[in-house]
Amino acid sequence: MTTLVTTFLEEIRKINVLGVGYFVVTLLTIYVTQWIYRWRNPKCNGVLPPGSMGFPLIGETLQLILPSHSLDLPPFLKNRIKRYGQIFKTNVAGRPVIISANPEFNSFILRQDGKLVETWSLDTFAEVFEQNTHSSRKYTRHLTLNHFGVEAIKEKLLPQMEEFIKSTLSSWSNHESLEVKSAAIKETVDFAAKQIFSGDLDNAPFNISYMFRDLVEGLMSFPINLPGTSHHKCLQIHKKVRETMRDVLTKRLSSSAEKREEEDLVDHLLRDMDSQKFLTEDYIVQMMFGLLFVTSDSISTTLALCFKLLAEHTDVLEELIAEHDSILKNKENLDDPLTWNDYKSMTFTLQVINEVLRLGNIAPGLFRRTLKDIPVNGYTIPAGWVIMIATAALHLNSDQFEDPLSFNPWRWKEIQPSCAAKNFMPFGSGMKQCAGAEYSRVFLATFLHVLVTKYRWTMVKGGTIIRAPIIRFPDGFHFKISQKNQ
Ligand code: HEM
Repeated sequence: MTTLVTTFLEEIRKINVLGVGYFVVTLLTIYVTQWIYRWRNPKCNGVLPPGSMGFPLIGETLQLILPSHSLDLPPFLKNRIKRYGQIFKTNVAGRPVIISANPEFNSFILRQDGKLVETWSLDTFAEVFEQNTHSSRKYTRHLTLNHFGVEAIKEKLLPQMEEFIKSTLSSWSNHESLEVKSAAIKETVDFAAKQIFSGDLDNAPFNISYMFRDLVEGLMSFPINLPGTSHHKCLQIHKKVRETMRDVLTKRLSSSAEKREEEDLVDHLLRDMDSQKFLTEDYIVQMMFGLLFVTSDSISTTLALCFKLLAEHTDVLEELIAEHDSILKNKENLDDPLTWNDYKSMTFTLQVINEVLRLGNIAPGLFRRTLKDIPVNGYTIPAGWVIMIATAALHLNSDQFEDPLSFNPWRWKEIQPSCAAKNFMPFGSGMKQCAGAEYSRVFLATFLHVLVTKYRWTMVKGGTIIRAPIIRFPDGFHFKISQKNQ
């Protein structure tokens, strides 16, 4: 009898354990199902634009960073625009995002800074560049324009650039084969360092230019900070370069009595420290780093693409040479420096630069975060979501740019400014437009002037292009550069 009762109780206990087990599993299933449902159908006071939120936690990040092998729009964007239209939703690294390739909506959003939207950066960008307050951003913009804007270019940067580029190309021509992108990063960083802290990076404890190259690789990576990940490497590089910048600043502070002939950007920052409360030493270090970075990758990538596209399109190169030869012919002395008027007369050169920027799509997009719900075409974009303006989709839109993948600088003769304003924005648009846009154009135009008047170049190896979605040249662009008269 006792055995029978024990067995009976044992069975009841088993049923209880099983029951509790089933109960827990059922609860978990309901919870996970609801969570997945909520993930796929985020809250919205209206109807969300079409699109997919991808897998829980990672969203569609993997699809976004999957490399494609041409200048064309990455399949991620191309396929979704085809399927959902010009405005669609997605999720990147756990963050809900609206991607827009709609020119009207884009120009509307770019006029809403501080009202319906605020500037936003991708997670890795944000960690590396730190989100600034409104007043510090405004200050950074003014400071950049002060030292890299039109007046500074006219007054001093243009002749300095020309001399610098002449000596750069002369040293490049001593190489049997030169990887143009890496070499250009070094030169653009060196030139900017001179403006920022009268700097000489040759004595830095490591090669800053190479570090910047590797840093870019990590900027569009999945933001997991674990050893071995690109994100981790990116943050490590950021730390090291910042330490170097801090050393530069510490030296500057200890020798503040030394007077430089011309005030550089760091002098300016130190002078403003009393009046601008956000100007801490950390902030200054961050700014030195940020400015060096923005000047390096963007200009060097554009320059490397110029080398490749001009080498492949001799008709464009011939017209470019003709334009620059005629600038030289009009000078009293062949060695007279380039003037602002010379730069302004480079009509075809600026069309070539536009075309390289259009095809290059250096910036992956323009990013804003919504401050309020925004209605668009019957849909609602909820407050707090990120909007990515897919500039590449505008630049490669066949409705605006006939045969969009062909390198055709002459197309710019026909393009009206009103059309360009909405469909061509390599430097962004509106109040937040790139503060280094004119500097970049002048640097590139001056480089092309010296290059096409004095040198010729042939590709030795490399030339592969990938987008992930930032444009990269995995095997580099290796060129032999020779002086014309040799
Ligand atoms: C080919 C070269 C370059 C390209 C394609 C480029 C592109 C861009 C883009 C797309 C933006 C964001 C605009 C927005 O969010 O609306 C930006 C912002 C900015 N860029 Fe550039 N950039 C280049 C070179 C430079 C250089 C050389 C400098 C510094 C001398 C610079 C300084 C800045 C600054 C300070 C901002 C922030 C502007 C603000 O928030 O008011 N950029 N750039």
